[in-house]
Amino acid sequence: MSHDFTVLGLAGSLGRRSYNRALLAAAAESAPEGIVVDVFDLTDLPLYNPDLDELLPGGGPSPQPVAELVERVESADALLLVSPEYNWGPSGVIRNALDWVSRPAGASPLFEKPVALAGASPGPAGTGRGQLQLRQNLLSSGSFVLQHPVVQVGDARSRFDERLELVHEPTRELVQEQLGALREWALRVTPASATA
Ligand code: FNR
Repeated sequence: MSHDFTVLGLAGSLGRRSYNRALLAAAAESAPEGIVVDVFDLTDLPLYNPDLDELLPGGGPSPQPVAELVERVESADALLLVSPEYNWGPSGVIRNALDWVSRPAGASPLFEKPVALAGASPGPAGTGRGQLQLRQNLLSSGSFVLQHPVVQVGDARSRFDERLELVHEPTRELVQEQLGALREWALRVTPASATA
């Protein structure tokens, strides 16, 4: 029996008026049939602290949001990380989430997990430099990062309206195309866990 392909979506901004949260919301509401984008809010995730890491001797117990995030990553077929670019890198919010879930090294929930990257910025770069760094970080966790299409949304002020609805149809189509490609990619790289 086939089931929906589940994508866990994480936004790397905590702002109420965040373009990246809005981009993730647009992905969730316009996902192609058979794909469900489930959003996990990182607002309550504490900063990584080895004293709270239950995988380390003397550490833990894991804070509840960490345990929930780990469980949600484990059960998702793939991840969609939608992060702002801060100082030419990914936001600390998204890096912090990845640090928590990257344990234990080599056997974490991120290991061989299909991942797509996306992001939006008011400037022209569209988070491309931040995404390159994230791609490098995800090499460390052995994740399978989708290569095409890239979703790097520049000039965000013109792509979203006052209510932060994505009003630029080519961008919405690109987001949909990326989700479809993520499912195809997951089927190729993790055929046992992904379902058409
Ligand atoms: C930024 N911004 C930014 N933009 C960019 O394209 N490249 C960059 O390197 C940076 N650096 C940066 C650093 C810091 C500390 C801040 C606060 C902002 C601008 C950033 O893209 C803009 O604020 C976005 O709107 C942030 O994303 P959200 O919160 O709208 O999702």
